[in-house]
Amino acid sequence: MSFSYSKESIEELRSQIDIVDVIGRVVQLKRAGANFKGLCPFHNEKTPSFVVSPQKQIFTCFGCGASGDLLGFVKRYYNLDFSEAVEKLAGEYGINIQKNVYNDDREKYYEINREAARFFYRSMTESANAGYTYMKGRQIEDATIAKFGLGYADEKWDSLYCYFQEKGTDEKLLLELGLIAEKGGRYYDKFRNRVMFPIINTSGRVIGFGGRALESAAAPKYLNSPENRVFQKKNNLYALNLTRQDIGKEGSAIIVEGYMDVISLYQAGVKNVAASLGTALTDNQAKLISRYTKNVVLSYDADAAGQKAALRGIEVLRGQDCRIRVLHVTDGKDPDEYIKKNGREAFVKLAAEAMPYVDYKLEAAKRDLDMNSEEGKLDYMKRIKPVLNELSPVEADLYIKKIAREVGIAEGAIKLEISGNTKSTRPVSAERKADGQQDGLSATEATVLKCLLTEPPLTEDILAAENIFGCQLARRVADIIFELYGTKGDFDLAQINDLLEPAESEKLAAALDNVVIAGKADEVLTECLQNNTLRLLREREKRVLDLLSLADEEANADSARELTLELMEIQREMKAHGGKKHVK
Ligand code: UTP
Ligand code: MN
Repeated sequence: MSFSYSKESIEELRSQIDIVDVIGRVVQLKRAGANFKGLCPFHNEKTPSFVVSPQKQIFTCFGCGASGDLLGFVKRYYNLDFSEAVEKLAGEYGINIQKNVYNDDREKYYEINREAARFFYRSMTESANAGYTYMKGRQIEDATIAKFGLGYADEKWDSLYCYFQEKGTDEKLLLELGLIAEKGGRYYDKFRNRVMFPIINTSGRVIGFGGRALESAAAPKYLNSPENRVFQKKNNLYALNLTRQDIGKEGSAIIVEGYMDVISLYQAGVKNVAASLGTALTDNQAKLISRYTKNVVLSYDADAAGQKAALRGIEVLRGQDCRIRVLHVTDGKDPDEYIKKNGREAFVKLAAEAMPYVDYKLEAAKRDLDMNSEEGKLDYMKRIKPVLNELSPVEADLYIKKIAREVGIAEGAIKLEISGNTKSTRPVSAERKADGQQDGLSATEATVLKCLLTEPPLTEDILAAENIFGCQLARRVADIIFELYGTKGDFDLAQINDLLEPAESEKLAAALDNVVIAGKADEVLTECLQNNTLRLLREREKRVLDLLSLADEEANADSARELTLELMEIQREMKAHGGKKHVK
């Protein structure tokens, strides 16, 4: 059987799959600056000279010269031909790759969209029309119209339809693309009296349109192409085809809500932008953007809906490990208005000063609260608890200090408030299975590991602690830590993950994410060790008490005396470790 894949299918595959992920499955990769390094799988080496670039999506070995892209790697590593490699990746990543006949079909859709875009563009630029007047009224220059291929759909019912009729285009395709509709056996244009924004994917294909009404009363304000074989909103960002180079150059991307925001910013010289097509940012859009940069600035509309969308965007981008900041325009309802009023410089400054997302969330939590009242402060603490709980210990500490200053609550009180009821302070014994072989990390175990990761030298403090880890994974991680610390005097999470299975790494990350070190790592660790000692003593106490009652039953005075002495010793120790007397 022979078949071919369209350029688009391959492009789609490349845009959905990260080469680092694919290679990372078979080569242990460590981050080294912007790239990843590992031992070359194509020749024998002891020191890594095999480099993978997430930005360029290529690999290269400085030792043996092997290099290539995603498919090149898969072909070579698994010894497959091109189509086998495509099949393998598509299968593993659940991507629907369409073959020949089907692809020619998609080609037809793209071609029709391109024709329509040209048609609208000619209407916009070749003679006077309401769309052009409208865009001029919004200070959009001719060069911008050309750059974005903006068009005009006139007010007649069948301009586009007639155009395609003459070309003999199948109505079915036009219907599917949402360019025309049908009623009572008659066809008519869907987009009328609208400024047309062609939506173009990163391989340069026109996949759909947004059409803005000229009158403010007309509804909907924007009419968009329906979802179809070539247009999926959730997989695309508006203008990324034009701006991805600028995004790469700038090292950051500004994500906005609207077509007009992108166009205004771009025209003003802020070119590292894209729009999420009016939906809340989706996972795929986040993936797409993070292919070009991990530095994302969300600049949504100033209204409540925009700010809500920003909060959702944060969560989605966090899933892609992005550094996220939020730019909240205050002068004007959106970036478009802001930059028109204040100019490029002012906007660039705002972008440079955009808040890290944590600050933004903490700020957003104040909304509608009277921060001068006790009640307001209490509500605020409740709201920010989950925000603080997802931070690294160091970050949490910094933010707690800041909040304490700002809100006028003692640091210690905030720590108590946010750690109360969280996993990190739940009693250890409750989490531990009787056989000490539980499958997940307990909160204490996670806390201890997190302390060590924060301050590797603390490893020395736990060398002597016995039985501190009940869970197998925690023990394994601890062993790795001892090994690394013992040989190199240092370690970090990446080095640990290198030695774990991916599934284990995931479990570990989840457990670490769940705890917050509220305070100094060494103090938190001491407390954990203290609790552990107490737990062990309590277990011993219980065992001795059982033995003692048995000795009593058997009237064995000698062993009863011995056990009583041991019990006293245990209880003395418990007291010394700050534990309450704990009898029966
Ligand atoms: P906005 O209403 O903020 O649009 O919606 P805008 O781009 O800033 O346009 P102007 O400046 O008011 O002319 C943001 C985005 O939401 C989508 C569009 O993608 C729009 O750009 N949207 C909005 C729709 O899809 N349909 C609508 O009816 C409204
Ligand atoms: Mn807007």
